[in-house]
Amino acid sequence: MKIAIASDHGGYELKEELKKYLAERGDIEVLDLGTDSEDSVDYPDYGVKCGEAVADGRAERGVVCCGTGIGISIACNKVRGIRCALCTDVHMAALSRQHNNANVLALGGRTTFIEDAKAILQTWLDTDFEGGRHQRRIDKIAAYEKNEGGIHE
Ligand code: RB5
Repeated sequence: MKIAIASDHGGYELKEELKKYLAERGDIEVLDLGTDSEDSVDYPDYGVKCGEAVADGRAERGVVCCGTGIGISIACNKVRGIRCALCTDVHMAALSRQHNNANVLALGGRTTFIEDAKAILQTWLDTDFEGGRHQRRIDKIAAYEKNEGGIHE
């Protein structure tokens, strides 16, 4: 699987640690979209960059990190087709895949311990979407994105 990964300065250290974890797994190709240091940058640039890489098929899924995971997940979710889930434990990570088919995972570099973040990422990578009624709900989000309406009918 190919994973796009991006962070701002607040998530840089975590991004680098997660890259080591992904390299150790051996089954993941990583597309690192920056940032490349702890110099201050703006999280929307990196959230959108990662979202676009997933939306246009350069990567199957993405991982984004900022200080809290909040700003970068908000930015990433502005890209059409992206379902970015900010997860703070493995239970949320599993459900974000099973129910929401999350295609980007957001993590907070200043709010989540590195070992916890690795466990969250592992669960998120290894959990499948359940489909069924959950597909119908995702389809409603996609329809809204396309301005087809449908949610309030
Ligand atoms: C940057 O200082 C910080 O605001 C950012 O990393 C993130 O936490 C925003 O949501």
